[in-house]
Amino acid sequence: METIIVKKSGALNGHLKVNGSKNSILPILAASLLTREKCTLHEIPDLEDVHVMCDLLSNLGAKINKTNNNSLEIQVENIINYEAPYDLISKLRASFLVMGPLLSRINKAKVSMPGGCAIGTRPIDLHLKGFKNLNVDINFNRGYIQAQTEDIIGNNVYLDFPSVGATENLMMVACTAKGKTIIENCAEEPEIIDLANFINSMGGKIEGAGTKTITIVGVDELHGTEYTVIPDRIEAGTYMVAAVLTGGELYIDNVIPAHVQPVIAKLREVGAEVVESRNSVMVRSKGMINSTDIKTLPYPGFPTDMQAQFMLLLSLANGTSVINETIFENRFMHANELLRMGANIKIEGNTAIVNGLNSLTGTKVKATDLRAGAALILAGLVADGETEISEIHHIKRGYADIVEKLQAVGANIAYSM
Ligand code: EPU
Repeated sequence: METIIVKKSGALNGHLKVNGSKNSILPILAASLLTREKCTLHEIPDLEDVHVMCDLLSNLGAKINKTNNNSLEIQVENIINYEAPYDLISKLRASFLVMGPLLSRINKAKVSMPGGCAIGTRPIDLHLKGFKNLNVDINFNRGYIQAQTEDIIGNNVYLDFPSVGATENLMMVACTAKGKTIIENCAEEPEIIDLANFINSMGGKIEGAGTKTITIVGVDELHGTEYTVIPDRIEAGTYMVAAVLTGGELYIDNVIPAHVQPVIAKLREVGAEVVESRNSVMVRSKGMINSTDIKTLPYPGFPTDMQAQFMLLLSLANGTSVINETIFENRFMHANELLRMGANIKIEGNTAIVNGLNSLTGTKVKATDLRAGAALILAGLVADGETEISEIHHIKRGYADIVEKLQAVGANIAYSM
């Protein structure tokens, strides 16, 4: 079984380039089902999740042609299958995002119920409620959702919670609906804006993405396009934490500073220097890590996808910090692994009380999910001795070349069989 071995490293210094956003490319790949014509996509990160989404789309009829390291052409002239099976959905929850485009294109879809995952139960009720509002019949049959419609008809949809996935699925189904759809209390994440921009570049009419209300006027047909995905704000945030944690100075390129404001604000609170440029940020440690409190919230609040990395950082802060996780019900699995490295963390419901210490100790730990795995890699950089991380397939889902990128800025890290 492949593991990652990290040895205590000094300060990380130098330049790192961030890849295209995982959470943008997954819905954008699904949205390429919306047209018969070719879409050319750039800045595609080489990630397990992207490979699984491409496998699913190929099953549905997509012809995918990798044109270079990080670009591909995708064309779905005919949909040859409309089922997303459990084995793919269970590997990649975002495969549920094919439901909206399949309905838009052929008025039917059969998608496995996703089930729970390492960070919580993760229901899909908001997606389904929205589809029903747009005249889609939903039936459950042996673990599958069968959706069909005569015509998708625009309507008003109010989301009880600003779900990222539900907002994306509804934007995709509504873009060829009859009439106008208004999604209220929708998600405002940068990835929502990216998907709307992609669909608009195909001839869609979506307004308001990035605000609480999105208006979509259905069009008859979408056409092919060429599109570049935004940089990954969570990958950027992870390396920003690495700079502060190791007492280093990292220049992180291919970042949109506006997308990482909550992370920048918290890094400044813990005592780091952050300098923003047009497409990059410089993060420099000032030698201390102050405690701070964190509450995860929908964008533009502090991202749940950065919670594990900050729990680690605050484990080495001067004083006590309180972390409140409000997005996912069970996203503290990394706390147990950090405890194995000597951290002092108490979990009470969705709150973690983190008492800062001076050091951690390397040992064998398990990546319980993607962001937990990233936090453990960072922990290994500062823990005494050696840290061996198993279950690294979780990390490969979302961080392309993380070992190579960290090596290049001075980390003592390698894969091991
Ligand atoms: N929720 C419902 N009902 C629904 C949909 C969501 O109750 O129908 C709840 C979820 O159970 C969760 C909360 O709403 O408690 C947020 O879920 P959301 O739908 O916003 O998240 P998602 O679309 O499933 C995306 C990212 C996640 C990221 C979250 C929150 C992708 C592919 N995934 O998930 O990314 O944490 O938004 O920002 O975009 C990651 O990259 O590590 C990751 C988990």
